[in-house]
Amino acid sequence: MQASPRHGFGGRLSYVWQTARPPRPAPTGDRMTTRGELKYEGKAKRVYATPHPGEYIVEYKDDATAFNGVKKAQIGGKGAINNAITAHLFPQLEQAGVPTHFIERLSDTEQRVRAVTIIPVEVIVRNVAAGSFSKRLGIEEGTVLARPVVEYCYKSDALGDPLINTDTAVALGWATPEELTRIRELALKVQAFLVPYFAARGVRLIDFKLEFGRLADGTVVLADEISPDTCRFWDAETNEKLDKDRFRRDLGGVEDAYSEMLARVTREL
Ligand code: C5P
Repeated sequence: MQASPRHGFGGRLSYVWQTARPPRPAPTGDRMTTRGELKYEGKAKRVYATPHPGEYIVEYKDDATAFNGVKKAQIGGKGAINNAITAHLFPQLEQAGVPTHFIERLSDTEQRVRAVTIIPVEVIVRNVAAGSFSKRLGIEEGTVLARPVVEYCYKSDALGDPLINTDTAVALGWATPEELTRIRELALKVQAFLVPYFAARGVRLIDFKLEFGRLADGTVVLADEISPDTCRFWDAETNEKLDKDRFRRDLGGVEDAYSEMLARVTREL
């Protein structure tokens, strides 16, 4: 990805990808980091087996989709940026008491993770009304919520990830009540860590989506990613969108917004 002329952010956002990118890890030559069979391909990532049965390699793609796959495009550098942002945040979440699947970043677009079975219940945490919440309830986008709202969706591309409640998840065998209690607790821990983290970097965390998985022993851990694909980020001063809504809503400056978020996430304070 090359540095492109800045646009769309009033010239204030001057970070470029090259300066923001964390150093690429040295190749380990370790056979454990060799990609095996493709286990799963989603809209934004591929998951590969490795010679170690307890580990997978996740490859982040530049492919972007919206509106349940109806709108498709490539966002140059997106895979590398989302990989880097997730690799930066997940170890800090571990430190904050949230177990995750993340082990290490292997390359620009790959990371080594612990093998999990994804629980098909997506968790959305909202601080400010936006997106489907605003639409569904007729609440103006930008309305600050009096407390965080945790929502659950059934992870199903075919159905467009419909909103569910926890009774549905238990009744259909997607998760146990104990797992759902743990998932909610961990989601709120992620929220408690991320809100001040982003605020300190001039970003309002409007909402975000998490996925959880089970390790072989049944332990629930945070999986998937935390990135501009899965969060809404608004500039704290201007409310400018710095996330996938720039793609969804044809606002332009998509690559710049992702680069900007990487720069802010990795900024030392
Ligand atoms: O569209 P909606 O308002 O429900 O999205 C809430 C949050 O969840 C947004 O940050 C969005 O990026 C994220 N999301 C996601 N994957 C989905 C649906 C929503 O990451 N399939």
